[in-house]
Amino acid sequence: MSSRIARVIDRALEASIVGSFTNIGSSVRSHLDHWENPASLEGRIVVLTGATSGIGRAAATMLVNLGAELHIVGRSADKVHSTVDALNGLGHHEVTGHLADLALLHDTARLEQTLHETLPRIDVLIHNAGALLTDFTATTEGIETTVVVHLLSPILLTERLMDCLSASSVGRVIVMTSGGMYTERFDVERLEMTPSSYRGTVAYARAKRAQTVWVTGANARFGDRVAFHLVHPGWTNTPGVDAALPGFATVTRPFLRSPAAGAADLVWLASTPPQVPAGGQLWLDRQPRPLHRLQRTRLSTPEEASSYDDLMAFAHTRIATALRDQS
Ligand SMILES: NC(=O)c1ccc[n+]([C@@H]2O[C@H](COP(=O)([O-])OP(=O)(O)OC[C@H]3O[C@@H](n4cnc5c(N)ncnc54)[C@H](OP(=O)(O)O)[C@@H]3O)[C@@H](O)[C@H]2O)c1
Repeated sequence: MSSRIARVIDRALEASIVGSFTNIGSSVRSHLDHWENPASLEGRIVVLTGATSGIGRAAATMLVNLGAELHIVGRSADKVHSTVDALNGLGHHEVTGHLADLALLHDTARLEQTLHETLPRIDVLIHNAGALLTDFTATTEGIETTVVVHLLSPILLTERLMDCLSASSVGRVIVMTSGGMYTERFDVERLEMTPSSYRGTVAYARAKRAQTVWVTGANARFGDRVAFHLVHPGWTNTPGVDAALPGFATVTRPFLRSPAAGAADLVWLASTPPQVPAGGQLWLDRQPRPLHRLQRTRLSTPEEASSYDDLMAFAHTRIATALRDQS
């Protein structure tokens, strides 16, 4: 097939949204000529959050099979142990499990200390853990949970591990975002929702949109040392989707991607050579995709210019307060 026809097919799928996000997108595109299989991960140290279920569990299996030295993070001791047991024996390296509830910044800080003390460097840090929470919950540190799990914990962990990532010749951070972010505009003032304003899908979409601001801004600042990538997994058949969106999962089930298909770009991006592909982009099915689909989610030029600093100021204040108040 000529590359021009492949491009037309890819763009037609992209424009249709449903064709792109469902298993139709991954099945068709995996036969187009831009599709590259992941390379060996032998010699790469990979840290993966959310590895005990769904996309993360599938990613963990693929990463180990490709030879990665894998460190998984989970919040349930039973799930972490059973995942490590299932993964060990697949590759040459022992898989290490770490226990941390990423809704708690104290747990994230403890995790960071352990990783610092035990690892010579980190080649790939993957922030995959996430959840769409139907009801408002605040953590014992006093922050709305969606904001902590998707943003504050990943930011804290990444910033404190930058020296470990910089020590790698291929250092990279991969953040699992969602097509949900296409519906929301970044506004730091409306990021952390209150009990009265809370709607789970909106809180989730705002946090995922804010991830795009973080990743593109961080890549612009630190990309020469550590690349930052965003991945959208498509609509994937996981326990997380069943729990959060049971109606959507039932109706779309035949068209949902398998967890392995949802994990495919994340694993591929973990395996690419240094600075390839360029950071700061959103990936779905091996192609960079737009950060906006709706005019109303775009920021004005001055808003765009201050968005990363606004987000980091918010994150640093919330993190410092939580860690100080509880220590
Ligand atoms: N599935 C989709 O269609 C889809 C679409 C777009 C984006 N995503 C994103 O893909 C990622 C994986 O989702 P999934 O669909 O695979 O869902 P999942 O099956 O529910 O897996 C989510 C993982 O995140 C972990 N996690 C959640 N909260 C945590 C916390 N506070 N501390 C530590 N770990 C926590 C879960 O741990 P437990 O096993 O202990 O629950 C689990 O391992 C998420 O970031 C999600 O937003 C998924």
